[in-house]
Amino acid sequence: MKEELLAKIEALQKEAVQVLSSFQSIKELQDYKIHVLGKKGLLTEVLKGLGGLSPEERPLVGQRANEVKQTIESQLILLQKSLEGKEKEAKFRSQKIDATLPGLQFGKGFRHPLSLVQKEIEQIFLNLGFSIHEGPDCESDYYNFGALNFPPDHPAREMQDTFYIKSEIRNPKSELLLRTHTSPVQIRVMEKQKPPLYIIAPGAVYRHDHDVTHSPMFHQVEGLMVDTNITFGDLKGVLTLFCRTIFGADRKVRFRPSFFPFVEPGAEVDISCALCNGKGCRVCGGDGWLEILGAGMVHPAVLEEVKIDPKKYSGFAFGMGVERIAMLKYGIDDIRLFYESDLRFLEQF
Ligand code: PHE
Repeated sequence: MKEELLAKIEALQKEAVQVLSSFQSIKELQDYKIHVLGKKGLLTEVLKGLGGLSPEERPLVGQRANEVKQTIESQLILLQKSLEGKEKEAKFRSQKIDATLPGLQFGKGFRHPLSLVQKEIEQIFLNLGFSIHEGPDCESDYYNFGALNFPPDHPAREMQDTFYIKSEIRNPKSELLLRTHTSPVQIRVMEKQKPPLYIIAPGAVYRHDHDVTHSPMFHQVEGLMVDTNITFGDLKGVLTLFCRTIFGADRKVRFRPSFFPFVEPGAEVDISCALCNGKGCRVCGGDGWLEILGAGMVHPAVLEEVKIDPKKYSGFAFGMGVERIAMLKYGIDDIRLFYESDLRFLEQF
């Protein structure tokens, strides 16, 4: 009985050593472990025979069975480790990346045409010694109209022209609105700084207007030059230089009388149409001239409002639409193209 059991145990060990070394996968190992060491496994079956042995024989056979069990188990662990290593290596090999392949191509970014034109305008004035200032898009009635000498009943103040911001506390003195022009920055700068002042103020402005040449939000660049002895001649010189720099040295520049409450005298500036060279065409509406900016000598009432003495100082101001200049420069006939984010359009600049 004892010999028989021992022989079975030895046979099991012998078989195990042979079989185990032939396995190629962890799954095979695990199946074999159950086959030999599991609840209904071969070794477990053999151990059931221990009951039929005498008390002296039992520990001997039991010990041997345990030794064989441990041998098989440690063999299993070793093999499992080595197979895991091989499986990992095979996985890495199959996932090998070629580090010499070219990377993903990202499209290069580029400036929006309106930013391009705005930067170009800014650079012209920076070269003349002007500096750049900014003001808030959301303004009070005071900065947008009142301080700029607009009378209380001026049509620009009407609801159909200006976007008002509804506020819980309705106070006509500090009524909030979206600025309709960049001119309020003139006031904000002159409140804080005294002449000599040579500044421009780019930014977004808002008006109730929507068609192929008007957008409810658009951009302006404001300019302001205040010093002693500034004359209309300075205004003409600076703005003529500006027009010829941005539109070409052969452009004719024309100053027409016009009215804005915060300047006196006021003017509008036209350039000769580049398309027909002043002969008259569809773009210039037939008269050969294109209006591109508003300007004028700062009104004494405005200087007084910001405590600058109009007897000592004088100045001029101007304001231009960035979209309008971009449309003329690039021959764009629909303002909405600037805001549609269509890359086919934007990529051309
Ligand atoms: N603020 C005026 C407009 O938006 C333009 C302007 C600016 C005119 C400065 C004169 C002086 O139409």
